[in-house]
Amino acid sequence: MVESLNKYDIACCHMAEPRIKMIANKVECPDSLLPIRKAFKNTLLVVGGYDREAGNKAIAEKRADLFMYGSFFLANPDLPRRFKLNTPLNKYNREIFHISDPVIGYTDYPFLEATTYG
Ligand SMILES: Cc1cc2nc3c(=O)[nH]c(=O)nc-3n(C[C@H](O)[C@H](O)[C@H](O)COP(=O)(O)O)c2cc1C
Repeated sequence: MVESLNKYDIACCHMAEPRIKMIANKVECPDSLLPIRKAFKNTLLVVGGYDREAGNKAIAEKRADLFMYGSFFLANPDLPRRFKLNTPLNKYNREIFHISDPVIGYTDYPFLEATTYG
């Protein structure tokens, strides 16, 4: 499929790992998109089960150009700052991922305390 996209010089392709299940805090199949990385000639964006360390490692190993974050972004409204400072992340709660409340699980996860991490 991505070889076909190459013919049209598509700027970027965004793929999700087929299985984003974490086992012992590790992505179950971290390099499953490697064949697509090799085949697609432009920017490849990948999502699914990554944390800061796994994303940095995957970038260093050139498994994609950009890595996306879903669950951690939901639980950490200041995720880029936390990544920059390498601070602990709020844990996400899957049980409130898909509830109808407009606040709980969407906008009520706490920001870092400014005084704690500067
Ligand atoms: C609350 C929540 C809702 C989501 N809803 C959808 C959805 O409707 N359709 C979809 O394709 N992916 C959905 N996703 C998956 C994300 O788009 C993304 O692929 C996934 O969160 C990335 O993995 P990560 O959470 O481990 O970073 C959702 C994820 C979360 C956390």
